[in-house]
Amino acid sequence: MAGNWKMHKTVGEAVALAAALRERLDGAEGADVVLCPPFTALAAAGQALAGSRLALGAQDVHWEPQGAFTGAISAPMLLDLGCRYVIIGHSERRQYFGETDTTVARKVQAALGAGLAPIVCVGESWEQRQAGQTESLVRGQVAAALDGLDADQVAGLAIAYEPIWAIGTGRSATGKDAGEVAALIRETAGLMTAPTAAARLRVLYGGSVTPDNIAEFMEEPEIDGALVGGASLKADSFAAIVQAALAVKA
Ligand code: 13P
Repeated sequence: MAGNWKMHKTVGEAVALAAALRERLDGAEGADVVLCPPFTALAAAGQALAGSRLALGAQDVHWEPQGAFTGAISAPMLLDLGCRYVIIGHSERRQYFGETDTTVARKVQAALGAGLAPIVCVGESWEQRQAGQTESLVRGQVAAALDGLDADQVAGLAIAYEPIWAIGTGRSATGKDAGEVAALIRETAGLMTAPTAAARLRVLYGGSVTPDNIAEFMEEPEIDGALVGGASLKADSFAAIVQAALAVKA
């Protein structure tokens, strides 16, 4: 269960939210809870989470470990701050920052090489869904991201299905539709490596997840968790989402 805070929260706000979530969720056994603050708040949020069950994640990473890449952040730097996870290939990065399947694959390999667990985002636009392209597009995104990875590496990944039209719109996918895409993500991963690795791969749903609709997604057998944007910015709503998810999967 991951919260993507996107470009929200100053350092002080991030520490307050991390501390509030620690209080509510440190006892939430059975769920891996990941908070992904902006880069500027990673160090302080990490300190607020130190010694807890809640993990820290970043929202992006560069594929090189160091070098002349002004403004970029590398996997060893994230590891140094205590990050265990990193979101890669979010549709907002693909749409606004020129992220491609090629850069996503490079970032996935760099993250895994450094010991970070990638949360890879895939998903179609509304036009692509209307044109019946969801399956081919998602299969292609997954195949590109997993290219060259071995079974153990795939087993350590999370892939988030985030239909672009559902992000920040209040119009989520249905559990059934999300479950179907989750199944084809797992199938694609299995064809590329081994079914045993694909079974361990974690598939998340993201896009207008709330405390009210999370159960619908978690009831889908192929969906293991959620990547939450807006509703992860408040302690009460994110904690309620995690608790509701646990109640379904328990
Ligand atoms: P919302 O939950 O705000 O729709 O955002 C989803 C998302 O993009 C998470 O990465």
